[in-house]
Amino acid sequence: MNQTRPESLASFWMPFTNNRDFKASPRLLVSAEGMYYKDVEGRAILDGTAGLWCVPCGHAQPKIVAAVREMVGQLDFAPTFQMGHPSAFDLADKLMAYTNGRFGHVFYTNSGSEAVDTALKIALAYHRARGEGTRTRLIGRERAYHGVGFGGMSVGGIGGNRKHYGPLLPGVDHLPHTHNLEKNAFTRGEPEYGAHLADELERIVALHDASTIAAVIVEPVAGSTGVLIPPKGYLKRLRELCTKHGILLIFDEVITGFGRLTTPFAADYFDIEPDMMTTAKGLTNGTVPMGAVFSKQFIHDTFMQAPAGIELFHGYTYSGHPLACAAALATLEVFEEQKILDHAKSMQPYWEDAIHSLKGLPHVIDLRSIGLVAGIELEPVAGKPGARAYDAFKKMFADGVLTRVTGDIIALSPPLTLEKQHIDELFGKLEKVLRGLD
Ligand SMILES: Cc1ncc(COP(=O)(O)O)c(C=O)c1O
Repeated sequence: MNQTRPESLASFWMPFTNNRDFKASPRLLVSAEGMYYKDVEGRAILDGTAGLWCVPCGHAQPKIVAAVREMVGQLDFAPTFQMGHPSAFDLADKLMAYTNGRFGHVFYTNSGSEAVDTALKIALAYHRARGEGTRTRLIGRERAYHGVGFGGMSVGGIGGNRKHYGPLLPGVDHLPHTHNLEKNAFTRGEPEYGAHLADELERIVALHDASTIAAVIVEPVAGSTGVLIPPKGYLKRLRELCTKHGILLIFDEVITGFGRLTTPFAADYFDIEPDMMTTAKGLTNGTVPMGAVFSKQFIHDTFMQAPAGIELFHGYTYSGHPLACAAALATLEVFEEQKILDHAKSMQPYWEDAIHSLKGLPHVIDLRSIGLVAGIELEPVAGKPGARAYDAFKKMFADGVLTRVTGDIIALSPPLTLEKQHIDELFGKLEKVLRGLD
């Protein structure tokens, strides 16, 4: 593989990237192992973000690498439309077992965005199949990120991701976000203030009537917008209201699934039963693109009562791709054999202390943490939102650490395999960079 500096950077139109700035001073990664990337200069880069939240078991995990290698030589591709291959079924059983039987069925996609759009479509088709075809409204939340498909964008709540693309889906409404620095700054875990914001669903129901609402979708912990942790009791209240009004509750677990909060899913952490969960990222440890929608038994049962024939007119050429299935099966084994969640739990207090040790540093207006996630919110430079955190991101990379920024928030989400020395390295460098910011 060509892993030297490319001859030209011109042709690749990079996603969610300031292309001109990047191409003027590129950051190129050429290999990865364990907790570190290597860049094109040969420098070790500590991975403070598990890639894009997607490598819980660490990079180049030998078992996962071997499983993908073996599968590509054996079954490079097999359709799953009116056909099948064993590993897709094996994986589905294992995933359902991983939820302790709380979910009955899984639908494969190739990304988080596709998982979200799939779950929204299942919600609409479910209500229609049971004779409540008036339930077509979808409810998202301000500041939410649900990927980049038209469904996910529409229920999403980040203005910059929406405003360029016209009216989006009709019949979508949004709950308010729960971020409140005045009440909740510098909280460890779930903040005290804000459970009442779930009651805004009652207002939306009063406006549109429950008989028009199909589903509510929320990230249990909102990640991409900058790590917003749900107030105590908020998600339980949302669950109660959805049940009361016959509305499906979808948890978008694309970043919280597979251990980010030190439990298999956020649903386990908060002890809530959503009706569907969307997942991706950590499902294959980031090695092969894959997403999955987990569905409760009763939803699937509804579709299976239809007259004989195709029950759900939906799917992707690569739904259940053999390489993705091999990677996901191996990932589940690694989680179990290496007790990844136990390790993550054992690191959590040290991680949390390290984050909150940044209190008092220049420009830091909030520190928040849950599981192995952290959000560090900086005071924006007047008139230049996002500039200060972007500066921090570039300085951290120059210092050998990969972080992620959104607006003026630095989000950290390392592989769950990290050790204390990695936490020390990350926060040692971060403290230095924060002290040096303009
Ligand atoms: C909560 C959530 N949903 C959906 C997505 C979209 O996933 P993908 O980029 O795989 O399409 C993301 C990506 O970060 C996410 O965080």
